[in-house]
Amino acid sequence: TQARITIDRDFTVAEVPRRLFGSFVEHMGRCVYSGIYEPGHPEADARGLRQDVLKLVREMGPTVVRYPGGNFVSGYNWEDGVGPVEDRPVRIDGAWHTIETNAFGLHEFVEWSKEAEVEVMEAINLGTRGVDEARALVEYANHPGGTYWSDLRRKNGAATGTQQDPFGIKLWCLGNELDGPWQIGHKTADEYGRLAQESAKAMKLVDDSIELVAVGSSSRQMPTFGTWEHTVLSHTYEEVDYISMHAYYQEHDGDAASFLAEGVDMDAFIDGVIATIDAVKAAGKHSNQVNISFDEWNVWYQRGLDGEDQPHNVAKAGWREAPRVIEDTYSVTDAVVVGSLLHSLLRHGDRVTIANQAQLVNVIAPIRSEAGGPAWRQASFWPFARMSALAKGQIMQLAVDSGKTPTAKFGDVDAVDATATWDEQTGRLALFLANRSMEEGAEVSVDLRGLSASGVRSAEVLTIPEGGDRNSANVLDAQDTVGLKTLQEVGIEDGVLHVKLPALSWSVLELD
Ligand code: AHR
Repeated sequence: TQARITIDRDFTVAEVPRRLFGSFVEHMGRCVYSGIYEPGHPEADARGLRQDVLKLVREMGPTVVRYPGGNFVSGYNWEDGVGPVEDRPVRIDGAWHTIETNAFGLHEFVEWSKEAEVEVMEAINLGTRGVDEARALVEYANHPGGTYWSDLRRKNGAATGTQQDPFGIKLWCLGNELDGPWQIGHKTADEYGRLAQESAKAMKLVDDSIELVAVGSSSRQMPTFGTWEHTVLSHTYEEVDYISMHAYYQEHDGDAASFLAEGVDMDAFIDGVIATIDAVKAAGKHSNQVNISFDEWNVWYQRGLDGEDQPHNVAKAGWREAPRVIEDTYSVTDAVVVGSLLHSLLRHGDRVTIANQAQLVNVIAPIRSEAGGPAWRQASFWPFARMSALAKGQIMQLAVDSGKTPTAKFGDVDAVDATATWDEQTGRLALFLANRSMEEGAEVSVDLRGLSASGVRSAEVLTIPEGGDRNSANVLDAQDTVGLKTLQEVGIEDGVLHVKLPALSWSVLELD
């Protein structure tokens, strides 16, 4: 396959919204317990925060982390997770059929977020709760002091040796997936829209500097997709800053070619939501701009597997603390898909300004850990880590003329999927390339117009390891089986970059 790409310094999309490289920690399975938090683990500090996991988190580079759910939040009382640990109630979590000890809560998460160097994105419960609890939580988290809730924060901080000063949480999700019948407190779009609007108003009366995310569709396949966004935004347009999107992808019936092209689906999904937002804006004669928070996305094998960690089997096994739930192991193919989904998000960075890969540790996560044991990176860690580190400055508008690869779901699609950023300050160009063809390598030429790129600073590729196959995954005892290797065939000649990509691969190049 051949691909010709043109990048011109005068054609840009937007500045890279750094919150695009977000992640998600839910009280689900072992994401919190024996994931980020495990008192007594040899690598845990006095607060129980696993330093081995934190090291990998910092290396991966998420900028913002959504917490505490997810489906979990729709049945959660945030007050259960604050105050002296011995006084916290043990509860049933109906969403994941789990016993929640509440040993970890908001203060602990704020402590963790400082160590992880991430912004907190806090979700409120609009499943079983409403306006009053929402405004109380904002007062608890952000008000300086001298009121009931803010003084309780100071007292609880003192009692638990955690932060007493305001947490200063800017980003808030108005509930989670309330369009889904599986959600505790599922609502119609009108019911949710009104509740979100009134909660938003009350929260902003406590702190008008916060940014709010209204719940969008749980997936593009939802029967209410489109009308849900339209109705919810018709109620909330003036009060919110973002509407959420969620999407999980997997390989169906061995059709890897279509799976590798799911970025096409993500592009169309995003374009549909942008159109709906702008229709509501026009009809309502609004002047504010609502953008998108794609606050759950990833590869997730939801069907076809019958392992013990599948939600229906977890429920059958009875009420347990922190059981294994959806601990997917990711292959090279999955990692290439993760890379191309990140391309789609970045290409839309003028309107998708927050995105959270779901989730961070153990639960469909790029980082895995064992209780009492090690922590390690999965194959899907690498595209995220490199893009978070290198996507800086302006998102470039690319002209891509690529050879095609056939898929059953989308017809012929570009074999080479690309995105790029250019940092005027450092003069560095970062180029991200997926070759979605499973059979053919790709010869790519990139015309660098108006950019003074003269040298290749780094060039790396993630592909099938020698002797491996597309299902190759990182394993504990050989972490680098699947990892980034040096991309050999790269050169710049007369302002044109030439690079050869192996079949089924994801590559990252940095030029200066
Ligand atoms: O991330 C796993 C689950 O997927 C979340 O709890 C929920 O919001 C979504 O359905």
